[in-house]
This record gives sequence, structure tokens and C-alpha cells, in this order.
Amino acid sequence: MAGGSVSECKEYLFKVLVIGELGVGKTSIIKRYVHQLFSQHYRATIGVDFALKVINWDSRTLVRLQLWDIAGQSRFGNMTRVYYKEAVGAFVVFDVTRNATFDAVTKWKHDLDSKVKLANGSPIPSVLLANKCDQKKDTSSNAALMDTFCKETGFLGWFETSAKENMNVEEAARFLVEHILLNDQHVPHEERTNDCVKLNQDAIAAEPKPGCC
Ligand code: GTP
Ligand code: MG
Repeated sequence: MAGGSVSECKEYLFKVLVIGELGVGKTSIIKRYVHQLFSQHYRATIGVDFALKVINWDSRTLVRLQLWDIAGQSRFGNMTRVYYKEAVGAFVVFDVTRNATFDAVTKWKHDLDSKVKLANGSPIPSVLLANKCDQKKDTSSNAALMDTFCKETGFLGWFETSAKENMNVEEAARFLVEHILLNDQHVPHEERTNDCVKLNQDAIAAEPKPGCC
């Protein structure tokens, strides 16, 4: 639910999932996006991790992205249903150097669509990330195939990303948030229970609001 109506500043809190096979770079993408950091060192995520990205979307809109960094191994357990609850957007990540991780994208997408939906019953917006593109130079020939794959599988689109070289991470996030905001505008005000977490107004009042209000 949008808050801060007095000064006409809107604040949103969106839950966004980051899913995909083990070691594809989910944690690295989030670290790059939120902290501008990258490490070669691989430490597998256990269960789920969280990060918060605050975006001054425009002069009157503040977006908080609550990023759920879900361990690749979670697909084999029963926890994803719990993790996906009330998410309003998702990134599905694969590693361009490992074909098996692309094959698993369909499984992740199916898992996602079968376990979470928007309030109006449609699938949550999702974007496909072809990560570690710094390690594979010639992917341009795959572009048409990827477009077709996205249409068939129900992704809004795809981006070649590199957490290492900081390529397209911001762009992909912006693209997803644009779509989440669009969905939000289509939902009648009184029905907005799923796509925005209700913000505690006292807490909001107590918190500083960078560049907004
Ligand atoms: P799980 O938590 O096990 O599901 O893995 P993950 O998807 O979170 O992968 P993580 O971010 O931990 O990255 C795995 C390994 O890939 C690490 O050694 C990273 O340094 C490396 N890596 C991640 N992104 C990139 C990238 O864009 N380019 C390159 N070259 N390496 C990357
Ligand atoms: Mg991880």
C-alpha cells in the first residue's frame, strides 16, 4: 500500500525473489546491486538470505526492494512455497558457461508459477538473467532464440549480466521494477494486499526518507 499521502510521496515495499541453480551467481548479483561488491570466493547460500535495496525511483516515489536470495538447492526441498509467498517479482538466473543451469530455468519457472500468483491470479512478473557473460563473448547469435524462449516460458525479457563486471544488473532491476509498478497501478486500491507490504505508518514517520518527501 502506498504511504505518505500527505506530501503525495509514494513508498512501496516489494518482495522480489532471486532463484536459479547452485552457483549461477544469485548472491553475487545481489551483492553487486546492493553493495557494489564482488568476490570470486564461492560460499553456497543455505536456505535463504535477504538484502534491501532502496531506490529513489523519481522525486515522488521511493521503492524498497526486499530481495530474497534463495539457495539453488532449495528446489529439491519443500521450502520454496514458503519463500515465494507474497512475492511480486522474480529473477531467474542461469550461468552462461553451464548449459545444465539453463535447462533448469524451465523447472524454476514452473516451480515459481505453480506456487505464487498476483492478487488477480496472473503469474508474477519475472526476468531471466544470463549471468557470467564476462566469461562467454559470443552470445549475440542466441538473442533470437532467447527472445522466443522468454515468450514461450512467460518471462518479460532477458538480460545478459555479469556480477563480476557490473553489466546490466541495474538495467535488469529497473526493467523488473517498472513492470511491478505497472501491475500495482492496475490493482484497485482496496485490493492491494499481495503486491505491496503494508507499511507501519509510525515506523515510516520515524524513519528518514532519502531524497523523498
Ligand atoms: P548458491 O547460493 O549455491 O545457490 O549459489 P549462487 O547462485 O548464490 O552463486 P554465487 O553468487 O555464490 O556465485 C558462485 C560463483 O560464481 C562464485 O565463485 C562467484 O564469484 C562466481 N560468479 C558469480 N557471478 C559471476 C559473474 O558474473 N562472472 C564470473 N566470472 N563469476 C561469477
Ligand atoms: Mg547464493
